[in-house]
Amino acid sequence: MQSWRASLLWFDPEADGPRPHFESDGLLVTAADAAGVQRVVAVGAYDTLRPRYSDVAVHDRRGRLIAPGFIDLHIHYPQTDVIGSPADGLLPWLERYTFPQEARFADPGHAASVARFFFDELLRHGVTTVLAFGTSHPGSVDALLGEAQARGLRCIAGKSLQDRHSPDGVRDETEASLRDTEALIARWHGRDRLGYAITPRFAPSCSDAQLHGAGALAARYSDVWIQSHVAENLDELRWVRALYPQDRSYLAVYERFGLLRRRAVYAHGIYLDDADRALLARTGAAVAVSPTSNLFLGSGFFDYAAAREAGVTLGLASDVGGGMSFSPFATMRAAYTVGRASVRGDGAAKRGVSLAATDLWWQHTAGAARALGLAWVVGSLAPGSEADFVVLDPAATPLLARRTAQAASLEEWLFALILLADDRAVTEVVVAGAPASHAFTEATPDLH
Ligand code: GUN
Ligand code: ZN
Repeated sequence: MQSWRASLLWFDPEADGPRPHFESDGLLVTAADAAGVQRVVAVGAYDTLRPRYSDVAVHDRRGRLIAPGFIDLHIHYPQTDVIGSPADGLLPWLERYTFPQEARFADPGHAASVARFFFDELLRHGVTTVLAFGTSHPGSVDALLGEAQARGLRCIAGKSLQDRHSPDGVRDETEASLRDTEALIARWHGRDRLGYAITPRFAPSCSDAQLHGAGALAARYSDVWIQSHVAENLDELRWVRALYPQDRSYLAVYERFGLLRRRAVYAHGIYLDDADRALLARTGAAVAVSPTSNLFLGSGFFDYAAAREAGVTLGLASDVGGGMSFSPFATMRAAYTVGRASVRGDGAAKRGVSLAATDLWWQHTAGAARALGLAWVVGSLAPGSEADFVVLDPAATPLLARRTAQAASLEEWLFALILLADDRAVTEVVVAGAPASHAFTEATPDLH
């Protein structure tokens, strides 16, 4: 059993919106359960809890904030080396930079070395769970999930399905791609903290036969995840309309093949209509809002007000390498900016909203966990949650220190952190109750 004394922030695991809890002088207590999984056993005010756990060692982190490890709802690990590659929008970017980089993952040695760097980088930024794309090469998933397993991380990933409109080196073959997917499910899904996601890259890259096969696997393995892209970019949208003239919308293609259900997560969702949003709400499929990617690729601005009114489940994602940063703080600030916009990107108006700091933070923790069907598992410090959390320094930079010191409320204080923090504010990351296995520049001494 261990405990940490610090300010604590977390959210109700099951609420369909942000319900924050905050303790300015809190105690977080963790212990292994009967199966050996490190979980939170108590969380609350230090003065209340300390007498009950008086014999438990305390990691004293007063002056710091402990919060759940961040969850990235959509990221491409093979695009770690694509980040910052400018192009005239999504489709040229895929052709020019992304597919050539992804072709390199035919080499398992390359995949393993990128996977190591990827998790080092995520952990440096306080991200402890991802839903990640591999490439079309099954070995890319073995490399990623093998690395996650060695580090004790919770991670969900899948091999990209793309049997058409993809160049040599990344295009797969229909039957083999489905066999490979099933073999990867058997190898990885439910093993330790790992999960598998059936991963049709996007409707334009998949034949009817491949989407049909993906849907059949999604029905057979109902607790396996599904991940894809939808309604991201206007040229992509026109292409889908030409390829699937019989379907009412881009999203309706996925519906026809049985790919909308709980545990299905679709990145972007900028160009949805009311019927699409109702369909998402009815099926329980979620949207991974990816604002830094949408800004970088010039895709458009996500309509929070419409999604929320329709009851769409959503959470935040970096979408690296379309995304500009691994940092959850960068993603949260971009989400705020995108929320403020009063246009969508195609000339259609949307309602600009000012998302609260607690809302942004929730979308990257408990809200994202809920979108994954992992409420009570990760994304919270509520008792029972797995012990994945971050220690943040609200005075990590001169401006952060100055601005957070002047905050008049919790909301203002969190907003200052969101606007001004980066990896320098992440002083420790705890994964399954243990320090994450990578070097931070400065270890925090225990005061007692
Ligand atoms: N649509 C299909 N593939 C991709 C990808 O790799 N990134 C993004 N942002 N959109 C996609
Ligand atoms: Zn993506």
